[in-house]
Order: sequence, then C-alpha cells, then structure tokens
Amino acid sequence: MNAKILKPSAQNIALCAEEIQKGGVVAFPTETVYGLGANVYDPLAIDRIFEVKGRPADNPLIVHVSSFWQIKNLTHSLPEKAVALAEKFMPGALTLVLNKAENVPDKVTAGLSTVAVRMPSNKIALQLIEKSGVPVAAPSANRSGTPSPTSAKHVFSDLKNKIPYILNGGQCRIGIESTVLDLSGEKPLILRTGAVSCEDIVGVIGAVGVAAGSSGAPASPGMKYRHYAPKAPLYFSAYYNAMQQSICAFYDDAQAQGKNPVILCLTTNQPLYGARQTIPMGDCFNAYAHKLYAALRSADAQKHQTIIAEGVPSEGVGAAIIDRLIKACGGNIL
Ligand code: TXA
Ligand code: MG
Repeated sequence: MNAKILKPSAQNIALCAEEIQKGGVVAFPTETVYGLGANVYDPLAIDRIFEVKGRPADNPLIVHVSSFWQIKNLTHSLPEKAVALAEKFMPGALTLVLNKAENVPDKVTAGLSTVAVRMPSNKIALQLIEKSGVPVAAPSANRSGTPSPTSAKHVFSDLKNKIPYILNGGQCRIGIESTVLDLSGEKPLILRTGAVSCEDIVGVIGAVGVAAGSSGAPASPGMKYRHYAPKAPLYFSAYYNAMQQSICAFYDDAQAQGKNPVILCLTTNQPLYGARQTIPMGDCFNAYAHKLYAALRSADAQKHQTIIAEGVPSEGVGAAIIDRLIKACGGNIL
C-alpha cells in the first residue's frame, strides 16, 4: 500500500506518534530536510529505518529530541561547550556528537561510543517527538544516495511503498542538512558543514577543527559514501571567480553531444548564460541552499543528461553547499 501524505493536524501528528510507539517508521518535516523517524529505544524499528532507506549499517543516525532533558538522558556527560551551543542554536540546525549513555542501542550509533543529537526547530517535528514520548532516531527520508528530500513529494517519490505515513509540512525552510559538530573529543570538530555556519560556532565556543571531507578514515561514517546524487552526471564549477566562461564552454560541448544540459545558477546570473537552459537558484546563497536538492531532482525529472552547478563562495552556508555539490558530483569538477 502506498504511503499516505497527511496534513499536519493535531490528529495526524498523534496518529504518527502512535505509529512510532508501535515500532513503525514515519516521515516528518524538519527545517532542514525531511526525516524518517523511529523510536530510538526500539532496535527492530531502527532496523526498519536502515532497510527502508537502503542505508549501510555502519552509518549512524541522528537522534531528534524535543527537550533538553532528553539530551541529558542520551549522553554520559554534557560538556560546557555543548550547553553554550544548545543555548544559542537549539532548537535549530545544529547536531552535537556526544559520549552516549549505555541504553542508547548500538544499532543507532553503528557501534560508536558517541551519539548525535539534534532538537529541530520545525513545530511539526517538535510536536511529533513530544507526542511520541521518546527521542526519535531519524536519517534524511530519502533512499540512500539520492538528494535529501525537502518536500513530502520527494519523500513519496523515494519511499512510497515502504512507509505508512508522510507528515506534510510543505517545503523545508533551510533545505540542507544540519551541521554535525563532534564534542566528544579534546577538540571540537565539524564533521559535516551545514545550515549553522562554522563562523557561527566559532563565535560561541572559539576555535573548531573541520574534518577533511573524504581523505583518510572518515570521522563521520556518512562521509565515505557518495551522497545527494541526481541520476544525471553533475558537474560542479568549484572556482567561484570567472567561472561563467568555462561553464558556457562545457555546456556547449554537452549540447553538441545531445545531452540536453542545464545550469543551476543564481537568478541574477541567468543573463550571463544567454539562451542556455538554466534553473534559477534565487538571489542569495541561502536561497541556493533552500532550492538545491529540489533543483537536482527537477533536473532529473526534466530529463537533463548533464547538470552543471555554479560554484559559491565558501563563507557561511556556502561551505555546506560546496560540500554537498562535491559529494554529489563524484569528482566531476570543472
Ligand atoms: O538535518 C539533518 O541532520 C537531517 C534531519 C532529518 O534532521 N538528518 C540527517 O541525517 O541528515 P542523516 O542520517 O542523513 O545524516 C546524519 C549524519 C551522517 O553523516 C552520520 O554519519 C553522522 O550524521 N552521524 C550520526 N551519528 C554520528 C556519530 N555518533 N558520530 C559521528 N557522526 C555521526
Ligand atoms: Mg542523509
């Protein structure tokens, strides 16, 4: 049977909370991307998440909470830096990796001694977690490897016959995943850049390291897999300055080969590409982030066989956009 897309009424939120209590999995909106949630303390329900997503078992899940005391119950000890960051960014798009309490199942953390926790700011998500009465383990609600879902329709297209309910909260406000910050060791380390920028974090706790994206042993297990990828090959112009010329040349080549190319670009840059096909990404980099996954999915739906993405500067949310595009393009850097 196909998943029901539900209006986020109090009644439907209660229905989904009941499903979580019964050991089921449901999809729900957050301010970053849609999540696929289950009771953190129910190992069979956690198995089901991995099965539904087709996710490798060694990639741990983020545990979503609706209150600060739930974080305390999930962790051994709460470092001062975690408290300072929680005061500033929770609820919000910051995930903290902390030493885990014994009762957090190994399946959730993929056997690690740490647990990733996040309090989303989306009201529907908070109500669902609260009603469920337990922390909710949730990865992004897509099939592993595809662009993360930023609308109920995206979730439906990936998981339609695998889950009973999708709570429909419209389009996710931010559009890319939370920042993952590891506070379990000596030095704070950003494992995944995201909506809360490195600069924002440094402003609260001082210096932080940023994990290398791909080389060596991945610090965040999720970093070693190809992610967020559309079906069509994606080419990413990593050099922000003077990139339009090389993009045009690459586009014209792809066009000559019958690849029906398209360029993802800032709306203000559209005229620079003349008559070439573009998907406008808005007027600022927050808008670019907000539209990114939907644009990758829509380029596939429109049968483009070459997708070219404009680069962005590496400050603020730009760092997270670059990270996602690099992982999605599989080394196709212009
Ligand atoms: O915005 C988000 O974070 C979304 C929404 C649904 O909250 N969730 C999300 O989950 O992006 P997922 O599973 O797609 O990505 C979780 C990332 C992975 O890279 C995973 O390896 C990392 O967090 N992670 C989870 N637990 C960890 C841990 N204990 N230590 C290190 N990395 C961890
Ligand atoms: Mg994901």
